[in-house]
Amino acid sequence: MSQRSTAEPPARRFPGVEIRALSYPDLPQVIAIERRVFPTPWSLAMFVLELSKQSGICLAAVDEGGLVGYMICSRYDTVWHIMNIAVDLDRQQRGIASALLAELYRRVGEETARFTLEVRRSNAVAIHLYEREGFRAAGTRRRYYQDNGEDALVMWRTPATLGGTLDDVPNPGPV
Ligand SMILES: CC(C)(COP(=O)(O)OP(=O)(O)OC[C@H]1O[C@@H](n2cnc3c(N)ncnc32)[C@H](O)[C@@H]1OP(=O)(O)O)[C@@H](O)C(=O)NCCC(=O)NCCS
Repeated sequence: MSQRSTAEPPARRFPGVEIRALSYPDLPQVIAIERRVFPTPWSLAMFVLELSKQSGICLAAVDEGGLVGYMICSRYDTVWHIMNIAVDLDRQQRGIASALLAELYRRVGEETARFTLEVRRSNAVAIHLYEREGFRAAGTRRRYYQDNGEDALVMWRTPATLGGTLDDVPNPGPV
């Protein structure tokens, strides 16, 4: 069973990797990567729930060795919320996360789309990636991460952030 099985766009090739829809049979490999890269990994049930949402976009990055990365994005009203993105440890820093995001923007297909996410303040690699992608910090969620009480930075990628302002970001706050 694959997500959005009726009108699924074809897979797209990026240098060294193919990006296609994530589906239920991928989940054992997703869980294995998730446990390698996150201190508090998502459960299988969380991935199943996200895959079951018809309005979401969930992508897999695959190379000749199998699944190497994934991204989960949910739509809430008019906003796309990137819930999870990860690349396996030995495949990082090759542009795979950027390829996943590029395919997300393409599938959303609206120039006015707004994307948001939360990221640990200490996650310099991810913050660097998101800033390169046009995301800007626009708020803080205090003690968002229960494992260590760390704050989350709330980041947005919108037409305004791509133009250098926060004008269309809802309720921007101190960062
Ligand atoms: C964040 C993550 C998804 C990025 O995946 P990736 O495929 O390595 O990303 P890319 O190769 O597209 O880009 C990585 C960028 O970070 C940069 N980078 C690498 N190490 C860095 C460091 N120590 N400090 C700052 N930037 C760093 C790379 O140079 C690259 O940027 P550049 O292209 O401008 O040079 C991956 O590191 C990961 O899975 N981390 C663990 C899970 C996680 O934290 N997910 C995000 C949760 S919000």
